[in-house]
Amino acid sequence: MIRFYQKENIFKLDTPNTSYVMGIACGRYLTHIYYGKYINSVNIGYIIDMDAEDINGIKMDMGEKPGFLDKLPMEYSFGGMGDYRESCIELSSDFGQRGVELLYDSYEIIDGKPELKGLPSTFGEDSQTLIIYLKDDVHGIKVELRYSVFEGIDAVIRSVILKNTGDKTLYVNKILSSCLELPENDYDYLALHGSWGRERHMERQHIGFGKYSVGSARGISSHQEHPFMAVLSEDATQEHGDVYAMNFVYSGNFISQIEKSQFGSHRFVMGINPEGFCWKLSAGEEFTAPEVVLVYSDSGIDKMSHTFHDLYRDHLIRKQWVYAERPVLINNWEGTYFDFDEKKIYDIAEEASKHGIEMLVMDDGWFGHRNDDRTSLGDWYVNEDKLKGGLKKLVDNINSLGMKFGIWFEPEMISPDSDVYREHPDWAVRIPGREPGQRRNQLIIDLSKREVIEYVYESVAKILRSANIEYVKWDMNRGFTDVASACLDSDRQGEVMHRHMLAVYELQGRLLEEFPYLLLENCSSGGGRLDPGMLYYSPQIWCSDDTDAIERLAIQEGTALMYPLSVIGAHVSDCPNHAVGRVTPFETRGIVAMAGTFGYELDITKISDEDRDMISGQVEMYKKYCPLIQSGDYYRVASYQQNHYYDCYEIVSKDKNEAMLVFIQVMAQINMGGRLIKLKGLNPDKKYSIEDKIYTGDTLMNAGFLIKRPDGDFKAKIYNIKAV
Ligand code: DGJ
Repeated sequence: MIRFYQKENIFKLDTPNTSYVMGIACGRYLTHIYYGKYINSVNIGYIIDMDAEDINGIKMDMGEKPGFLDKLPMEYSFGGMGDYRESCIELSSDFGQRGVELLYDSYEIIDGKPELKGLPSTFGEDSQTLIIYLKDDVHGIKVELRYSVFEGIDAVIRSVILKNTGDKTLYVNKILSSCLELPENDYDYLALHGSWGRERHMERQHIGFGKYSVGSARGISSHQEHPFMAVLSEDATQEHGDVYAMNFVYSGNFISQIEKSQFGSHRFVMGINPEGFCWKLSAGEEFTAPEVVLVYSDSGIDKMSHTFHDLYRDHLIRKQWVYAERPVLINNWEGTYFDFDEKKIYDIAEEASKHGIEMLVMDDGWFGHRNDDRTSLGDWYVNEDKLKGGLKKLVDNINSLGMKFGIWFEPEMISPDSDVYREHPDWAVRIPGREPGQRRNQLIIDLSKREVIEYVYESVAKILRSANIEYVKWDMNRGFTDVASACLDSDRQGEVMHRHMLAVYELQGRLLEEFPYLLLENCSSGGGRLDPGMLYYSPQIWCSDDTDAIERLAIQEGTALMYPLSVIGAHVSDCPNHAVGRVTPFETRGIVAMAGTFGYELDITKISDEDRDMISGQVEMYKKYCPLIQSGDYYRVASYQQNHYYDCYEIVSKDKNEAMLVFIQVMAQINMGGRLIKLKGLNPDKKYSIEDKIYTGDTLMNAGFLIKRPDGDFKAKIYNIKAV
């Protein structure tokens, strides 16, 4: 529910348990007043002394304007006028002027949530949107701040549209999407860091004075940092304390930053990374900045995760897939790498079909003359020396086993050793006069060019039209370097990476329009682009190239912080694990992969009979738990990252009648008794059965459930919990 209270000059957005309040200070500036637990009253402007002529003791007269602005909690900050904290917007006009002053203009409140042109965004009719217009008449701009809320969800969705209303060209050097001011307090921040194969490891740090910033300038949301940050009260835990989180619905460069000011207040911002960015905005044009999801929880991290999960399941991921049982797939990548032919693929599919696996995904290496990673990206035609008889025949044969067929592409790339590059050397992203740096022997194809977008679309679509292909794995295996486009003017070179992202969104959107049944799985050297932007198009995303069950615990824990388990691509692979060389029991690999979109990634014809015989049981178990995994509330019970011995999580159905508890003993310990685990999220008044014993919910949650410690390392078990 959103309202403007005229007497108090206050905008108030209420969700079931939170309130977000802004005001118009001195009739000029949109100021942030409060975000937190739901409050009933509108008499709240006093907390920044709004109804007095001055704010926080600083007079708003022209003699003290800079000092006033430097202290005001800004709803959308601007620099150059006195506020020296992080600004959200920076422009330069054709005569070089940079400072911006955004004054309040007007507002409207509408039912529903308008789409964001060209960008992924949350959707749903049970929503309301507040649009606040700010303006700077000197630059000739109007800034539209949008705030949406969905019924029953404790999140506020923000985005920004900048319009050039003047008659001069402007250059947008920076345009962030969200700014949140928090009052003086002791806070920590929680961010996700990593590397290839080590994505989204959580790190929590205390916030001192100054700026703490994470971001990506790689052109993808990246393995290294993640477009998510949470600011927590110092005492916050999984179950208690304040958590303010932001997650960016965008898959390219981003910045996320918390800054503690001289007065102890905090400014928390998120948006497109200004580094390398500059967008030319001619008279009459507008620029839309991607949306940020803001979540507040008064009960710690678990509640924050539930809000993100519910929001993404009900308002971001395509309805058709979100709660649908996904096919259990087998992918040949770790099984064969590039060394396969049609017989090998068929043999894997044939064996897999006997064990309940439902889809074969043919990974990299089926096109051009690609037998290693040095060639052929961009030559999206079938290598018939490898796949004799062609693709349709292979797909038909696999379909006749009762299995679906999926295929891999890396559409955003071009290999220097490819027919398409030889014909169009100007189609690569590169700086004229410089030899472009390759990664994995490849260059990025220049999606600033309309003709390249059309070429890429047709290349992929032609293959999809040629056979019954029901799944695409869309990969992206390098970050940007040598950023420049041959088709853009010199004053538009700062647009290349954002244009690339817009083109990727357009391509994926078009594919889904032409092939509406298609199951799309995004991937970027593992989980380098697992973000809400990509989730809008693909309901599952490959989480990491590290398939080791133990390494996956931290990766999946960090990923599940805001993404529902149903989106986390997780596969059972062979041992010793190809990434880390560790040997874990097949059973444990299955249990860990079940906290995601379950599949296999091995040559099923080569593994031991003992492992192979376990597959049907694992598939059956996954199917049994699938509805719970897809729609339940996820609770983090214990983290191996913290205790170094075991990992434990729980998924509870919304009606609290069913739950699963997953326990993984990473390291065995000598001379210890059973492990007492306090369960979460159950109904205290209900009775539950676990392994044929009956307990009350309050006993399980307060006294705990006693787990008999298994012998040995890397042991895992699922406990089924049912209300009786
Ligand atoms: C990186 C992906 O993460 C892998 O799963 C695999 O598809 C390779 N690319 C193929 O080149």
